[in-house]
Amino acid sequence: MIIKLSDGLDLRYEDFKDEGWRVGILARSGAGKSNLAALFAESALDDGWQVVIIEPISEWHTLKVVYPQVVVCGGEYADLPMAMGVEDLLIDLLEKSSASIVVNVSDIEEEWEQKRFVGAFLWKLYRRWQRVRRPILAVLEEADIWAPQMWSKEDSPALSRVSMLAKHGRKLGINLILISQRPADLHKSPLSQCNILFFGSFKSAQDLSPQQGVMWISKKLGIPITEKEITSLKAGEFIGWIKNRVVRFKARWRKTPHGGETPSVSLAPPPEELKAPLDEVRSKISELVEKRKRELREIDRLRRENEQLKKIIEEYERKIEILKTVKEIPLEIKAKLDTIKVPIQTSPTIRLTSPLMAEVPDPVRLCPHPGAYDVYSYLSKNKGWKKISEISSKTGLSVNRVRRVVKYLARKGVLNVRWGSRGGKKYPAYVRLKS
Ligand SMILES: Nc1ncnc2c1ncn2[C@@H]1O[C@H](COP(=O)(O)OP(=O)(O)O)[C@@H](O)[C@H]1O
Ligand SMILES: [Mg+2]
Repeated sequence: MIIKLSDGLDLRYEDFKDEGWRVGILARSGAGKSNLAALFAESALDDGWQVVIIEPISEWHTLKVVYPQVVVCGGEYADLPMAMGVEDLLIDLLEKSSASIVVNVSDIEEEWEQKRFVGAFLWKLYRRWQRVRRPILAVLEEADIWAPQMWSKEDSPALSRVSMLAKHGRKLGINLILISQRPADLHKSPLSQCNILFFGSFKSAQDLSPQQGVMWISKKLGIPITEKEITSLKAGEFIGWIKNRVVRFKARWRKTPHGGETPSVSLAPPPEELKAPLDEVRSKISELVEKRKRELREIDRLRRENEQLKKIIEEYERKIEILKTVKEIPLEIKAKLDTIKVPIQTSPTIRLTSPLMAEVPDPVRLCPHPGAYDVYSYLSKNKGWKKISEISSKTGLSVNRVRRVVKYLARKGVLNVRWGSRGGKKYPAYVRLKS
């Protein structure tokens, strides 16, 4: 494979056979990174290699204009729908057909899920290619998202897989291109594995920074370039570090239309020989999506059930506490407690200022309906007639629950009730403690 980067500058795969392509392309947005990477991808496809591209926004689908074997999963130009869990199916497709795949992760809502997906995809590619070992070119757009310099737990799977592919991919036939517009944010482990680095134009101090940006990288790797050379580059111009040689060049235009610039291209359907494998993957993906939906519904149901059970447990715990208190207070103290005046507080938190158990009448303790203690406690601290809805909102009990408790305690002579009636049915409207 020969890659024509520009007139007079060719890269021959033969010269890199032992190490494979491990390419880093660093330049600010709009400096020509994707176009340069497309020169590699097109040459690879011309030579019958498979290509897999991971992109966060739709851009690489235009490869299909010249290479109909390119299949897009996800995004606006999807041949296959994207869903969590399709990684295996896509790797199957790569293994069992001649398809190349553009993996567009934009349909995955959350960035942490995109990272999880990419981590899983790269891991499965790596595992499968231990057996398959065919030459393949993997292009990672926005590599700093998948392999960030500052990483947390959620980044670690994707980061370690990018590093692993950069280190060991070659043995399996996996060649790698890392593209980033934020060199300071890209992890230096996979970057230091690159045997070819392209620096395009940068302007910002952060990107150029000698502490962590481009100038840091060039110094660390002993690449003799200056900040001025980097800032003076125009779109499409790059400084390449290739086998310890610095070359400055203007990249030629790719064959296929540029995805970012070509709003509408006519994309032919995938070729006949891919029809059957694609149909198979498509139906497996829809099975997967259905299964996932069922699982989510089930999770939702279990979550609601769990909430209800938690409430019931809390209620029982409260009852147990009450029973324990009653049991633990010795008889003589119980007797004395009757003579102690408990100051009534107006704090909205009921349980902190609850009436002492010795004061709680038996019907409250024995009430078969949950919440009796809270209703009694509230009324004992808030004298006078109280509306049911007020008790409900202050105690957190439902109106119906309060009504049941009130009816019971009224029957047992603990409360006075003013009844209302609606449609011939009586309901407790106001209530107060019987003095
Ligand atoms: N080799 C080139 N020659 C001339 N212009 C280029 C070249 N490469 C890129 N450009 C210009 O820069 C724009 C952005 O290119 P692109 O490859 O999308 O950059 P990036 O991926 O860095 O954002 C292109 O639309 C084009 O106008
Ligand atoms: Mg780009």
